[in-house]
Amino acid sequence: MVKLKYKKMKLYDVYPLFDINIVKGKGCHVWDEKGDEYLDLYGGHAVISIGHAHPHYVEMISNQVAQLGFYSNSVINKLQQELADRLGELSGYDDYQFFLINSGAEANENALKLASFYNGRTRVLVQEKAFHGRTSLAVEATHNPKIIAPINANGHVTYLPMNDLPAWEAELAKGDVCAVMIECIQGVGGIRLVTPEFMKGLRELCDKYDTVLICDEIQCGYGRSGKFFAHQHTDVRPDIITVAKGIGNGFPMGGVLISPKFTPVYGQLGTTFGGNHLACAAAIAVLDVMKQEGLVENAAKVGAYLMEELKKFPQIKEVRGQGLMIGMEFEEPIKDIRRKLLFEKKVFTGVSGTNVIRLLPPLCLSMEEAEEFLKRFKEVL
Ligand SMILES: Cc1ncc(COP(=O)(O)O)c(C=O)c1O
Repeated sequence: MVKLKYKKMKLYDVYPLFDINIVKGKGCHVWDEKGDEYLDLYGGHAVISIGHAHPHYVEMISNQVAQLGFYSNSVINKLQQELADRLGELSGYDDYQFFLINSGAEANENALKLASFYNGRTRVLVQEKAFHGRTSLAVEATHNPKIIAPINANGHVTYLPMNDLPAWEAELAKGDVCAVMIECIQGVGGIRLVTPEFMKGLRELCDKYDTVLICDEIQCGYGRSGKFFAHQHTDVRPDIITVAKGIGNGFPMGGVLISPKFTPVYGQLGTTFGGNHLACAAAIAVLDVMKQEGLVENAAKVGAYLMEELKKFPQIKEVRGQGLMIGMEFEEPIKDIRRKLLFEKKVFTGVSGTNVIRLLPPLCLSMEEAEEFLKRFKEVL
C-alpha cells in the first residue's frame, strides 16, 4: 500500500505515559522500537494471561479472521458454545449460563442490571477502595470520587470496610439491597484479600435477604490467583461472576457467568460486538493453552515462590497476594523504585496508590524468569 501523509490530530491526553514504544512481545518479554528487551511482570495490566504472541493464539486468530471476523448475534455462532463449554469445565461452573460482551466495565454493568431485573431493587454494596470500571453504574460502584462524574453519582452505592461482616449485615438487613459486588483480591485497591469467613457470612446474608452476590473476577480471576477464580479460595459460589482482561489475552472482551436461578429473557441483554467470531477464537485459544500448559497450577507454584522470596526483603513492609497477583507495600512512595526497575533494569511492574508495587505477570512466568526478576529487583532496592 502507498504511504499517505496526514495532518496531525491530537490524542485526548488522559494517560500519563512512559516514554517507551512497545512494538513486540513473546511470552513474558516485550521489546521497544529501539530493540531493548523488557521482562513483563505487569502483563499490560493483568491482560496477558497465556503470554505475548503464543503460537496457538496467533494461529487461531489468523485463521479465524481469514475465514470470518464478524457476524451479528442474530445468527448461530458455534464458537460461543465451544468457548462456554471450555470455560464451564475449566472453571467448575458448567451449570451456569454465559453472556459475552466487550470489557470489564460492561461485564459489571450487565451483572448489576441482571441483579436489578431479578429482585427489582436499586441499591448496591461494594468494598471501600473498590474498582469496578469507568462506565455508568460500574464507576459509581468504584470508590474513587475523582472519576465519578456528577451524572454518575446517583446514590445507588454504599462503600463498606472490607471483611467487616457486621457493617455489611447492617445494610443488608434493611432488605433493599439489590446486589453486593466483591473483588476477592482487590487489584487497584492495593492487593487486599477477603477472608473465607467474611465470604461465607456474606453468602448467608445474601441468601437471607434475597440480595444477588456478584464476584468481580476481572483482575483476580481467570487463573491469576492460582485457582481458576479467586473466590474459589473460599467455599462460596456467587450468583454472578464477571470476567474480562485475561479472557482474550489482549483481545478486548468480557463475560458474565450467570447462575441457573436467572431465567434469560429475549432482548433483555444485548450487544453488537460481544462474542463475535474473532473474539471467541481468541478466548478459545486462551483456554486451550491454559489447560494444555497447566497455567493455573503454574500461577500457584511460581506465585508462591515469588511471595516467599519477596517476604525476605527487609525493605518491604508487607507482601500480599495469591498466585501471580502480588502486592508489595513499602513505607515510602515506590515511584523511584518502579522507574529504576523500568528504565535501568528493564522490568515492567504496576502500582496501586503511592506505596504498593503490583505484580501481574503473564501466567506462564517461569521459575527462571521469577529468579531473574528477583535479581533485578534486589539491585534497585
Ligand atoms: C476488578 C476490576 N473490575 C473492572 C475493571 C474494568 O475493566 P475494563 O477496563 O475492561 O472496563 C477493572 C480494570 O482494571 C478491574 O480491575
